[in-house]
Amino acid sequence: MELHPDIKEVILSEEKIRKRVRELAEQISEDYKGKTPVLVSVLKGSVIFLSDLLRFMKINPKIDFIGVSSYQGKTQTTGEVRLVMDLKDPIYGEDVIIVEDIVDTGLTLEYLRENLLTRKPSSLRICVLLDKIEARKVDVPIDYRGFVIPNKFVVGYGLDYDERYRNIPYIGVLKEEVYKR
Ligand code: PRP
Repeated sequence: MELHPDIKEVILSEEKIRKRVRELAEQISEDYKGKTPVLVSVLKGSVIFLSDLLRFMKINPKIDFIGVSSYQGKTQTTGEVRLVMDLKDPIYGEDVIIVEDIVDTGLTLEYLRENLLTRKPSSLRICVLLDKIEARKVDVPIDYRGFVIPNKFVVGYGLDYDERYRNIPYIGVLKEEVYKR
Protein backbone atom coordinates (compact mmCIF):
# COMPACT_ATOMS: atom_id res chain seq x y z
CA MET A 1 0.00 0.00 0.00
CA GLU A 2 1.15 3.51 -0.75
CA LEU A 3 2.35 5.67 2.10
CA HIS A 4 0.19 8.69 2.93
CA PRO A 5 1.98 11.81 1.58
CA ASP A 6 2.04 13.49 5.02
CA ILE A 7 3.65 10.51 6.73
CA LYS A 8 7.42 10.53 7.23
CA GLU A 9 7.89 7.19 8.93
CA VAL A 10 5.81 4.11 9.71
CA ILE A 11 6.23 3.00 13.32
CA LEU A 12 3.86 0.01 13.22
CA SER A 13 2.52 -1.66 10.09
CA GLU A 14 -1.04 -2.91 9.64
CA GLU A 15 0.18 -6.50 9.87
CA LYS A 16 2.10 -5.93 13.09
CA ILE A 17 -0.89 -4.20 14.66
CA ARG A 18 -3.33 -6.92 13.58
CA LYS A 19 -1.15 -9.69 14.99
CA ARG A 20 -0.67 -7.97 18.34
CA VAL A 21 -4.35 -6.97 18.67
CA ARG A 22 -5.32 -10.58 18.06
CA GLU A 23 -2.89 -11.72 20.78
CA LEU A 24 -4.33 -9.19 23.23
CA ALA A 25 -7.88 -10.29 22.39
CA GLU A 26 -6.97 -13.92 22.95
CA GLN A 27 -5.30 -13.12 26.26
CA ILE A 28 -8.31 -11.12 27.47
CA SER A 29 -10.70 -13.87 26.28
CA GLU A 30 -8.71 -16.40 28.30
CA ASP A 31 -8.58 -14.21 31.42
CA TYR A 32 -12.31 -13.41 31.29
CA LYS A 33 -13.57 -16.85 30.28
CA GLY A 34 -17.21 -17.27 31.37
CA LYS A 35 -17.48 -13.56 32.18
CA THR A 36 -19.04 -10.64 30.36
CA PRO A 37 -16.65 -7.75 30.83
CA VAL A 38 -17.52 -4.21 29.81
CA LEU A 39 -14.99 -2.74 27.41
CA VAL A 40 -14.91 1.00 28.03
CA SER A 41 -13.59 2.71 24.92
CA VAL A 42 -12.07 6.14 25.50
CA LEU A 43 -13.19 8.44 22.70
CA LYS A 44 -12.18 9.14 20.16
CA GLY A 45 -8.78 7.60 19.50
CA SER A 46 -9.54 4.09 20.74
CA VAL A 47 -12.54 3.27 18.54
CA ILE A 48 -10.56 1.49 15.83
CA PHE A 49 -8.55 -0.47 18.38
CA LEU A 50 -11.79 -1.37 20.20
CA SER A 51 -13.51 -2.60 17.07
CA ASP A 52 -10.59 -4.78 16.02
CA LEU A 53 -10.07 -6.09 19.56
CA LEU A 54 -13.74 -6.93 19.81
CA ARG A 55 -13.77 -8.91 16.57
CA PHE A 56 -10.87 -11.10 17.70
CA MET A 57 -12.45 -11.91 21.07
CA LYS A 58 -13.79 -15.33 21.89
CA ILE A 59 -16.01 -14.06 24.70
CA ASN A 60 -19.01 -11.73 24.41
CA PRO A 61 -18.12 -8.47 26.09
CA LYS A 62 -20.36 -5.45 26.42
CA ILE A 63 -19.09 -2.11 25.17
CA ASP A 64 -19.57 1.44 26.33
CA PHE A 65 -17.93 4.77 25.57
CA ILE A 66 -16.51 7.59 27.62
CA GLY A 67 -15.19 10.90 26.38
CA VAL A 68 -12.33 12.85 27.89
CA SER A 69 -10.40 15.75 26.54
CA SER A 70 -6.93 17.07 27.25
CA TYR A 71 -5.06 17.71 23.99
CA GLN A 72 -7.45 20.16 22.33
CA GLY A 73 -5.82 20.23 18.92
CA LYS A 74 -2.30 20.42 20.23
CA THR A 75 0.43 17.81 20.21
CA GLN A 76 1.17 18.37 23.90
CA THR A 77 -1.22 17.62 26.73
CA THR A 78 -2.48 20.60 28.74
CA GLY A 79 -2.45 18.45 31.84
CA GLU A 80 -6.12 19.15 32.51
CA VAL A 81 -8.41 16.19 31.91
CA ARG A 82 -12.13 16.84 31.51
CA LEU A 83 -15.00 14.39 31.22
CA VAL A 84 -16.86 15.41 28.07
CA MET A 85 -19.13 12.38 27.67
CA ASP A 86 -20.08 9.85 30.30
CA LEU A 87 -20.82 6.12 30.02
CA LYS A 88 -24.35 5.18 29.03
CA ASP A 89 -24.73 2.49 31.71
CA PRO A 90 -23.71 2.06 35.34
CA ILE A 91 -20.67 -0.18 35.91
CA TYR A 92 -21.44 -1.10 39.52
CA GLY A 93 -20.50 -4.77 39.98
CA GLU A 94 -19.18 -5.11 36.43
CA ASP A 95 -15.78 -6.35 35.24
CA VAL A 96 -14.51 -3.27 33.46
CA ILE A 97 -11.64 -3.01 31.01
CA ILE A 98 -10.64 0.48 29.91
CA VAL A 99 -9.57 0.38 26.25
CA GLU A 100 -7.16 3.15 25.24
CA ASP A 101 -5.20 3.79 22.09
CA ILE A 102 -2.22 5.40 23.82
CA VAL A 103 -0.81 6.20 27.24
CA ASP A 104 1.53 9.15 27.26
CA THR A 105 1.83 11.16 30.50
CA GLY A 106 -0.70 8.79 32.09
CA LEU A 107 -2.88 11.69 33.25
CA THR A 108 -5.93 10.60 31.22
CA LEU A 109 -5.84 7.03 32.47
CA GLU A 110 -5.19 8.09 36.04
CA TYR A 111 -8.22 10.36 35.91
CA LEU A 112 -10.39 7.67 34.31
CA ARG A 113 -9.26 4.98 36.69
CA GLU A 114 -10.08 7.10 39.74
CA ASN A 115 -13.37 8.22 38.25
CA LEU A 116 -14.53 4.70 37.34
CA LEU A 117 -13.38 3.18 40.64
CA THR A 118 -15.79 5.48 42.53
CA ARG A 119 -18.62 3.63 40.75
CA LYS A 120 -17.58 0.36 42.40
CA PRO A 121 -17.01 -2.01 39.50
CA SER A 122 -16.28 -5.61 40.49
CA SER A 123 -12.87 -5.28 38.81
CA LEU A 124 -11.05 -2.72 36.69
CA ARG A 125 -8.23 -3.36 34.28
CA ILE A 126 -6.54 -1.24 31.62
CA CYS A 127 -5.74 -2.26 28.04
CA VAL A 128 -3.66 0.08 25.89
CA LEU A 129 -2.38 -0.41 22.39
CA LEU A 130 0.55 2.01 22.58
CA ASP A 131 2.68 2.90 25.55
CA LYS A 132 5.03 5.88 25.42
CA ILE A 133 6.80 4.83 28.59
CA GLU A 134 9.39 7.64 28.39
CA ALA A 135 6.70 10.34 28.61
CA ARG A 136 5.06 9.06 31.78
CA LYS A 137 4.36 11.61 34.53
CA VAL A 138 2.10 9.53 36.75
CA ASP A 139 2.25 5.82 37.31
CA VAL A 140 -0.75 3.85 36.05
CA PRO A 141 -1.10 0.08 36.13
CA ILE A 142 -1.29 -1.25 32.56
CA ASP A 143 -2.70 -4.79 32.47
CA TYR A 144 -2.63 -5.34 28.71
CA ARG A 145 -0.13 -3.51 26.54
CA GLY A 146 0.22 -3.74 22.77
CA PHE A 147 3.51 -1.98 22.07
CA VAL A 148 6.01 0.29 23.74
CA ILE A 149 6.75 3.11 21.30
CA PRO A 150 9.31 5.94 21.21
CA ASN A 151 8.39 9.40 22.51
CA LYS A 152 7.24 10.74 19.12
CA PHE A 153 3.87 12.18 18.16
CA VAL A 154 2.11 9.44 16.23
CA VAL A 155 -1.05 9.29 14.12
CA GLY A 156 -3.15 6.64 12.42
CA TYR A 157 -5.20 3.64 13.55
CA GLY A 158 -7.56 6.04 15.36
CA LEU A 159 -4.98 8.56 16.53
CA ASP A 160 -5.27 12.08 15.18
CA TYR A 161 -3.47 15.34 14.68
CA ASP A 162 -6.06 18.11 14.82
CA GLU A 163 -8.82 15.53 14.11
CA ARG A 164 -7.08 14.26 10.95
CA TYR A 165 -5.29 11.04 9.99
CA ARG A 166 -7.44 8.76 12.20
CA ASN A 167 -8.26 6.65 9.12
CA ILE A 168 -4.66 5.77 8.25
CA PRO A 169 -4.50 1.99 8.84
CA TYR A 170 -0.98 1.97 10.34
CA ILE A 171 0.80 4.03 13.03
CA GLY A 172 3.15 6.65 11.69
CA VAL A 173 4.96 9.92 12.31
CA LEU A 174 3.98 13.06 10.41
CA LYS A 175 6.39 15.14 8.35
CA GLU A 176 7.46 18.36 10.15
CA GLU A 177 5.91 20.55 7.44
CA VAL A 178 2.42 19.34 8.41
CA TYR A 179 2.65 21.16 11.76
CA LYS A 180 3.51 24.45 10.01
CA ARG A 181 0.40 24.49 7.86
C1 PRP B 1 -5.05 10.85 23.62
C2 PRP B 1 -5.22 9.38 23.92
C3 PRP B 1 -5.38 9.35 25.40
C4 PRP B 1 -4.53 10.51 25.87
C5 PRP B 1 -3.23 9.98 26.40
O1 PRP B 1 -6.31 11.43 23.51
O2 PRP B 1 -6.33 8.83 23.27
O3 PRP B 1 -6.72 9.52 25.80
O4 PRP B 1 -4.33 11.34 24.73
O5 PRP B 1 -2.40 11.00 26.87
P1 PRP B 1 -1.94 11.12 28.39
O6 PRP B 1 -1.44 9.78 28.86
O7 PRP B 1 -0.83 12.15 28.32
O8 PRP B 1 -3.08 11.61 29.22
P2 PRP B 1 -6.65 12.83 22.83
O9 PRP B 1 -6.73 13.87 23.90
O10 PRP B 1 -5.69 13.06 21.70
O11 PRP B 1 -8.14 12.65 22.29
P3 PRP B 1 -8.74 11.72 21.14
O12 PRP B 1 -8.62 10.28 21.64
O13 PRP B 1 -10.16 12.15 21.02
O14 PRP B 1 -7.94 11.93 19.88
